[in-house]
Amino acid sequence: MLRSNWREGVRPDGRRYAYTCPAVPRYRHMWHWDSCFHAIAWRHIDPARARAELRTVLRSGRPDGFLPHTVFWDSPARWRRAPLYATRRFAGDWHTETVGPPLLALAWEIVADASGDDDPGFRTEALGALGAHLDWLARERDPDGDGLLTIILPDESGLDDSPKYKPVFGALTHDRPGYWLLVERGRRARWDSRWIIERYDHHVEDVWFNVAFALSLKAMGRLSGDPAWCARARRVEDALLERCWDERRGLFFDLAGRAERPVRISTWSSLSPLVLDGLPDRARRRLVEEHLLDERRYAAPFGIPSVSMDEPSFNPRWDRFRCWRGPSWVNTAWLLVPPLRALGYERHADHVVSSLAAAAARDGLREYYDPLTGQGLGARGFGWSTLLLDLVDGG
Ligand code: GLC
Repeated sequence: MLRSNWREGVRPDGRRYAYTCPAVPRYRHMWHWDSCFHAIAWRHIDPARARAELRTVLRSGRPDGFLPHTVFWDSPARWRRAPLYATRRFAGDWHTETVGPPLLALAWEIVADASGDDDPGFRTEALGALGAHLDWLARERDPDGDGLLTIILPDESGLDDSPKYKPVFGALTHDRPGYWLLVERGRRARWDSRWIIERYDHHVEDVWFNVAFALSLKAMGRLSGDPAWCARARRVEDALLERCWDERRGLFFDLAGRAERPVRISTWSSLSPLVLDGLPDRARRRLVEEHLLDERRYAAPFGIPSVSMDEPSFNPRWDRFRCWRGPSWVNTAWLLVPPLRALGYERHADHVVSSLAAAAARDGLREYYDPLTGQGLGARGFGWSTLLLDLVDGG
């Protein structure tokens, strides 16, 4: 499947590309976090393609460190994509002006570890560019300097229609026609994110996006041997704990708008700080024991639901206009299973992996699965669901 979704070529400006489409025909472009996950899966069967995909991601942006959420490698966007893709102009652009969950340095490290003697230079060849991307995010997306990055469009976290964005974006959420107004407003502001953040309230310090940032800062520390990156990762962890942790609910919540109002809706994102081993064990164990192991909340028959089953907005099924409203995804399990094991919750980790593997064996590698029945939903032949390779291989 990964092979048949592989695309390579040269753009008119001479830039070479090689990447995996998330799913054909539905998702034909390159998405930042999808490609990070594809590379992690590719390393099991063809590490050269894993490296090529990550190099393509790194080549997709600008020299100042900006890397786009979506890239149209084979032909520039036409007007039909204008309402849905956050491009600079109405037509003619090669990528969006928005970002995706910053997982590139993490994926780079995982692929470098698998590359060994094949390509010994890979580990350090891109330190400058990887660092420039993380610096761009800190510079452009943390205008108040509190250590937490802000997203200006809901889909920048990859969790497009998550119910947690409803109180933040209102009629401008990703699943509503108002979304194009949000995109148009960004165009008029020439995507100056600092200005947008200062002027409007439709933005959020997103827990999952910051967890991804911290994971990449830590990976940069290990790739470069420079402890300054680890200190920056600790600052993100501290900010998450101080500002997003809700002691009463035992969950991490996003902070919305200029007033930084907590958005108290329990989604997979609230649990994602579990992957940060710099956070106190007490908080991490509460995430597991009060939420992941609770059959009314996240302990579902199949995988880990993307929204807590006790939230009124939880919907386990497919919805034409909405995703991330309940179904279980493979990438979220890939992130949470290793810390579950590290903290000693082996039985639950085994259950998450074997239930998803059983669903995929029956219905194929789908975009997501119904957490109650295991039914495969959304796109077929979905790229990052191949992360199951990693999970059954000892994750
Ligand atoms: C959907 C998902 C997003 C993903 C994209 C491409 O929009 O919500 O996370 O990156 O598809 O697979």
